[in-house]
Amino acid sequence: MADSPEFHDRMLSLGLARVSEAAALASADFVGRGDEKAADQAAVNAMRNQLNMLDIQGVVVIGEGERDEAPMLYIGEEVGTGHGPAVDIALDPLEGTTLTAKDMPNALTVIAMAPRSTLLHAPDVYMDKLAIGPGFAPDTVTLDMEPAERVRALARARGCDDEDITVCILERPRHEELIREVRSTGAAIRLITDGDVAGVMHVAEPEVTGIDMYMGSGGAPEGVLAAAALKCMGGQIYGRLLFRNDDEKARAAKAGITDLDRVYTRDEMVTANVIFAATGVTDGSILPGMKREPDWLTTETLLMRSKTGSVRRMRYRTPAK
Ligand code: FBP
Repeated sequence: MADSPEFHDRMLSLGLARVSEAAALASADFVGRGDEKAADQAAVNAMRNQLNMLDIQGVVVIGEGERDEAPMLYIGEEVGTGHGPAVDIALDPLEGTTLTAKDMPNALTVIAMAPRSTLLHAPDVYMDKLAIGPGFAPDTVTLDMEPAERVRALARARGCDDEDITVCILERPRHEELIREVRSTGAAIRLITDGDVAGVMHVAEPEVTGIDMYMGSGGAPEGVLAAAALKCMGGQIYGRLLFRNDDEKARAAKAGITDLDRVYTRDEMVTANVIFAATGVTDGSILPGMKREPDWLTTETLLMRSKTGSVRRMRYRTPAK
């Protein structure tokens, strides 16, 4: 690594918002068009172009996949001008490709940046996730508790009934038992079809989203992005990697992970201050989607810094092409 100036997240964060915006704008023509791949490719190209304009010595640690399966924004790709601070980048140019293709809620573009070697290099495997919002003591809920116990513990901590808790879960056959157990408490469940970065972010603003807790397995890379978001917004997330075969274990080994059963806390997935930007692609509870007018396209970007806890919402209007 060449001499690396300090990570000045204050100015860099503004650049990061542009990166996120660019990816969303590039996917605009593909919202509701049924072509997931084209939508994703457009977002990837735009995010990479903008990222390469930033004065950083960046390395993608959470990206589009391994080098042999993703030609752009692959894990390990160096991005930025090569001048500036050495940073880790976690990104998902289009989180919710199917949501975008079907014009369903909560598709986002997402990117997080932190000093070099401070973001968990999560392999592309599943992660069991559990998240709650700000204001609770550590370990109010844990991954070792049964799902019903988590509901009861959160209700106790909030001073409400189990029935007053709403849990967000990805609708998947693998979650049938989880859903049954949560329902047995009387808690409500908001099922989502995709997009668990947004799903987890929902817990940080329960009064806006109506969601108190997130549970279930989804992509591990998305888990690190969600941890970065909660480090800025407040809230806790726990994640445990899940391995289905030896190939997945080999991916973990390649990423330097030796303890396969480890439960990661938010601050173990993101060990230093982080900046996080997300732009709404389709309408959602956290961010509105892009708005089309005859001559204009408008985006809204959430830009956050964990160092200060600052949350900016930036609306950007640009002439429609
Ligand atoms: P894509 O945007 O790559 O399609 O991922 C969407 C997503 O729903 C993630 O938010 C989630 O972590 C993961 O897929 C869940 O994986 P699976 O569909 O295999 O359950």
